[in-house]
Amino acid sequence: MRALFHLFLLLLPCLLFLEEARAARHGGISLRSQHIALLHWKASLASPPLQMISWQENTIPCNWTGIMCMAIRHGRRMLWVVSNITLPNAGIHGQLGELNFSALPFLAYIDLHNNSLHGALPASISSLSVLLELNLEQNQLTGEIPCQNLSGPLPQEIGHLTSLVKLGLSNNTISGSLPEHICSSRRLQFLGISNNMFNGLIPKSLKTCTSLVEIDLQRNQLTGDLSQHFGVYPQLKGMRLASNRLSGKISPNLAACIQLTVLLLSQNMITGSIPPVLSKLSNLEELTLDSNHLSGEIPAEIGTLGNLYILNLSSNKLSGSIPIQIQKLSNLGYLDISGNRLGGLIPEELGGCMKLQSLKMNDNNFRGSLPGAIGNLAGLQIMLDVSKNNLSGVLPQQLGKLEMLEFLNLSHNQFRGSIPSSFSTMLSLSTVDVSYNDLEGPIPTTRLLQNASASWFIPNKGMCGYLYGLAPCYSTPVAGHHKRKTLDLLLPIVLVAVFCIVAAIVVIIMLSHNKRKPQESVNVEGRDLFSVWNFDGRLAFDDIVRATDDFNDKYIVGRGGYGKVYKAQLQDGQIVAVKKLHQSEEQLNDDRRFHNEMEILSQIRQRSIVKMYGFCSHSAYKFLVYDYIQHGSLHMTLENDEVAKELDWQKRIALANYVAQAISYLHHECSPPIIHRDITSNNILLDTTFKAFVSDFGTARILKPDSSNWTELAGTYGYIAPELAYTFVVTEKCDVYSFGVVALELVMGKHPRDLLNGMSSVEQAMLVKDILDQRPTPPTTTENKSLALLIKLAFSCLESSPLARPTMQEAYQTLIQ
Ligand SMILES: *[C@@H]1O[C@H](CO)[C@@H](O)[C@H](O)[C@H]1NC(C)=O
Ligand SMILES: *[C@@H]1O[C@H](CO)[C@@H](O)[C@H](O)[C@H]1NC(C)=O
Ligand SMILES: *[C@@H]1O[C@H](CO)[C@@H](O)[C@H](O)[C@H]1NC(C)=O
Ligand SMILES: *[C@@H]1O[C@H](CO)[C@@H](O)[C@H](O)[C@H]1NC(C)=O
Repeated sequence: MRALFHLFLLLLPCLLFLEEARAARHGGISLRSQHIALLHWKASLASPPLQMISWQENTIPCNWTGIMCMAIRHGRRMLWVVSNITLPNAGIHGQLGELNFSALPFLAYIDLHNNSLHGALPASISSLSVLLELNLEQNQLTGEIPCQNLSGPLPQEIGHLTSLVKLGLSNNTISGSLPEHICSSRRLQFLGISNNMFNGLIPKSLKTCTSLVEIDLQRNQLTGDLSQHFGVYPQLKGMRLASNRLSGKISPNLAACIQLTVLLLSQNMITGSIPPVLSKLSNLEELTLDSNHLSGEIPAEIGTLGNLYILNLSSNKLSGSIPIQIQKLSNLGYLDISGNRLGGLIPEELGGCMKLQSLKMNDNNFRGSLPGAIGNLAGLQIMLDVSKNNLSGVLPQQLGKLEMLEFLNLSHNQFRGSIPSSFSTMLSLSTVDVSYNDLEGPIPTTRLLQNASASWFIPNKGMCGYLYGLAPCYSTPVAGHHKRKTLDLLLPIVLVAVFCIVAAIVVIIMLSHNKRKPQESVNVEGRDLFSVWNFDGRLAFDDIVRATDDFNDKYIVGRGGYGKVYKAQLQDGQIVAVKKLHQSEEQLNDDRRFHNEMEILSQIRQRSIVKMYGFCSHSAYKFLVYDYIQHGSLHMTLENDEVAKELDWQKRIALANYVAQAISYLHHECSPPIIHRDITSNNILLDTTFKAFVSDFGTARILKPDSSNWTELAGTYGYIAPELAYTFVVTEKCDVYSFGVVALELVMGKHPRDLLNGMSSVEQAMLVKDILDQRPTPPTTTENKSLALLIKLAFSCLESSPLARPTMQEAYQTLIQ
C-alpha cells in the first residue's frame, strides 16, 4: 500500500502534466491553479513558518506539509484536488484574504486555528461548496478590512456553505451580526464563535438547526429572546451562551434537548423562573444561570440531576428556601447560590452532597444555626462562605471535620459563643473571616493562621489572641514565642536575676529549636495554599519535610523534567516517593486548576500505575507524594548486566503488556483522558518481582499548557514523537510513539537509537534477530512468537504519521490476543 503510494508520488508529475494540458483545454480547475493560489498565499505571509518550507514551486502541493489531496472524477478521468489545509499552531502571520479560495473549490477541511491571521474573512470563501469544517479559532480576524475599501462583518455568504458541519471562529475580534443563513443547510453541528464582538440578533436559521451538537456563543454582545430564538436540538450536548445580552425566559422546550451536558446561560438578562422541567436533563453536568434576573424558587425537581457537577445560580433574585432534594446531587462539586433572596433554615440535607469542594451561600437571608451536618462534607476544600446572612447560634463542633478546607467566611451574621476548639484540626485553613458576629474567646491558632489578619476577627463581642489589634488572652495557656509577651507582663514583678536566668534559658531553647527544625522557615506565608490528601490517617507536611531533612540532596532518588524525586521515610515507618516540582514556575500559580488536576490524578487506580497519595501546594514547596517502588527504573535495570539477565524474556513480555495496559487506561478509561507525555524507561519502575509501574503520569497536566515554556516539558529526547518537532500539539499518539521506543528498548536491552532513523519496517523487522538482547537466556519458541508480535507492534507505534500508529487500546489488544 505504502509502495503504491510512493509509486503514485513518483508518477504524479507526469500525471499532472497530462492533467494540466487537459484542464487547459477545458478551462477548468487544475492542480496547477491550486498550486499557484497556495504559493501566492505563502508569498504574502510576513515570514512563512518552517512548516511551509516544503511549499515549493517545483514540488506538488499534495506532498506539502499541511496539505492533503483527494482524487475526484472529472468526466472519465481522475483529478487530484486539494482537500485539506491543516496548519494549526503554526505561527502563520498574514492575511487570510490573500488565499484565493476561488481557486481551491474542493477544500473540505480548513484548520488554521491559533495562528496570527488578520483581516477579514474573504467573501470568496462562499465558493467552497464542499467545505465541512472551518476552524479559524484564536487568530486576529476582524470584521473590518483595514486597507485590501471594504468594511463589514462576517460575509453573509458563509450561509452558502451548504456542507458546513463545523465552524470555529472563537477568539478573534470579528464584529457585526451573525450571517442569517448560518445553518440553512441544517447540517451544522459545531458552531464556536466565543470571544468576539458579534452583536445583533440571534440568526433565524439557528432556531431550526436541529443538527447542532455544540454551540458556543459566549462573550459576545448578541441579543435575542432565549425562548423565541432558540429551538429544540435533539443532538445538542453543549449550549454555551453566557455573557451576552440575551433576554426572555428559559424555555421549557430546553428540556427536550435531552443530550445536554453543559448549559451555560450566565451573565445575560434572562427573566422568569427556573422551569422545573429542566430536571429532565438527566445528563447535565454543568448548569450556570448566575448573574441574570431570575426570580421564583429553586425547583425541588433539581434533585433529579444526579450528574450535576457545577451549579451556579448566584446573583439573581431567587427566593424561597433550599429544597431538601438537593441532597440527591451526589456528584455536585461546586454549588453557588450566593447573592439571592433565599431564606429559611440551611437544611441538614446539604450534608448529603458529599462531593462538594466549594459551597457559597453568602449574601442571602438564611436564618437559624449552621447545621453540624456541614461537617460531613469531607471534600470541601476550596471554600465555605455563608457570610452576610442572618445566621445565629453557636458554631457547630463538627466544622472541625473539614480538614481540607482552606477558606471559611462566617462574617456578617449573629453567631455567638466561642470558636469551637475543633478548629485546631482544620489544618488547611488559611483564611477564616468571622468578623461582624457576636463571638468571644480565643482565635484559632493553627499554623497557617499565624499571620492572619485581625480584621477577620473584629468587630465581635470580644475575641482575643496574639494578633496585633486584638487583646491578648490572659487565661489561655501560651506556647512558643508568645512566652515572650507573658514574660514582658511578668517583668516588673520578677527579680532581675531571675529574669536573666529565664531569658538565657529562653534564648537557648529558641536557638536549639531553630537548629532542630529547619522546616520552620516554611511557615512564612500564613495564607498559602497547603493541602495534603489523606494517607492512612493524615500524611503530614511536616513529616515529609522532616523525613527529607528539608529536601536535602542526599535523599534524591531520581530526577525528571519536572523536578527531583526524594525518598522519604515517614514517622510511621512507611516509605514514600516525594516529587518536588521545580519552583518559581508561574505555571503552577493557578491553584484551583492545580487542585482540580490533582484530584483527577489522585483518583487514578490501576495496578500498573504508581499510586499517588497526595500533594502539597505551598509557596515554599509544591510536591506530589507517590508510592515508593523498591527496585528502581527499567532504565537502571537494563543498564546493569546482572539484573538485566534476571529480567528474562517472559518477564519482559509481561512487562510490555502491563505498561501497554496502563497507558491504555490513562488514554481510554480516564475522563478527561490523561496523556502521559513522558513515557520513558526512566518512568517505568520495577518492584523486586519485576512488576512494572508507570510513574510520573500527568505531571504535565498540572502545568499550564499555554505558558511560554511548556514545549520544553513535552517529553524526553529519544522518546519524543517526530511530529512534536514541528507541532506543539501533544496527543495520545505521542505516548504511543514513546511506548514503541520503550518496547524496542526492552527487546534490545538498550535504547534503539539507530534503528529509529529512516528504515522501512521490513528492513527493521529483518534486523530484529540481530538486535535481541543477548544477556537473558535465548527465548523459547513461544516467547519467540510473542517477541515477534511485540516487535511488529513496536514498529507500528513508531510510524512517523500519528494517524498510522495504533491507539494504545489497539496496541494492548494486539499484545494479549
Ligand atoms: C515528497 O516529499 C518528500 C519529503 O518532503 C520528498 O522526499 C519526496 O521526494 C516528495 N515527493 C514528490 C513526488 O515530490
Ligand atoms: C483566483 O482564482 C481564480 C480561479 O483560478 C482565478 O480565475 C482568479 O483570477 C484568481 N484571483 C486572483 C485575485 O488571483
Ligand atoms: C458563579 O458565578 C459568579 C458570578 O457570575 C462567579 O463570580 C462565581 O465565581 C461563580 N461560582 C463558581 C463556583 O464558579
Ligand atoms: C467575607 O465576606 C464578607 C461579606 O460577604 C466580605 O466583605 C469579606 O471580604 C469576606 N472576607 C474575606 C477574607 O474574603
